[in-house]
Amino acid sequence: MSTSDNIHPDFPGILQRSAKEALLKQKAKVLWMTGLSGSGKTTLAQGLEKRMHTEGFLTQILDGDNIRAGINSNLGFSSEDRTENIRRISEISKLFLDCGIITINCFVSPTIAIREQAKDIIGPEDFIEIFVNTPIEVCEGRDVKGLYAKARNGEIPDFTGVNAPFEAPANPNLEINTAGSSIEDNVAALLAFIRPLVQA
Ligand code: ADX
Repeated sequence: MSTSDNIHPDFPGILQRSAKEALLKQKAKVLWMTGLSGSGKTTLAQGLEKRMHTEGFLTQILDGDNIRAGINSNLGFSSEDRTENIRRISEISKLFLDCGIITINCFVSPTIAIREQAKDIIGPEDFIEIFVNTPIEVCEGRDVKGLYAKARNGEIPDFTGVNAPFEAPANPNLEINTAGSSIEDNVAALLAFIRPLVQA
């Protein structure tokens, strides 16, 4: 007998998500931003969250660097660890969804398989894929955290875009290229796309 044989989730006894969404006057979704390190995911998420907050939406940002500093501090960047990173984040996102809260997720989530896993766990109707498609030359030029320089020096063996793969989404719900436009314009485009999906 495995441990899971003794676990009996009690979903019917839990207050419905729809009741919580009604309380918050919004529809919960997971806004999943994928893109290279330095592509602008976190900057866009922070701008979007501020705008949504002023419009009365309750949101929560989930961010790679923050989650990896806490609940996922035991994970690295092998393919297996990235898969486990995204699996746990997807389960966390589902808890927020069930609470009626919109999450804005910022994870490199570099492969199609890893994002499919997230979509499966979260549920396809609640998973909104946003591709922050900033060219690697621009991300590397910014190199805010100095990680591209380290990766090029051979100090990081599996850095996404340098010596580990990034597979672009084939059909994202929205694609943003941060290279040629301002943060404000990109946040405005995001908000215009998201608002109808989360309005009660
Ligand atoms: S993911 O691939 O598992 O989705 P995640 O989004 O959690 O990655 O974390 C990426 C962040 O970790 C990057 O923004 C960067 O700051 C840092 N990082 C450190 N090492 C790596 C690496 N080898 N590849 C990508 N990002 C890395």
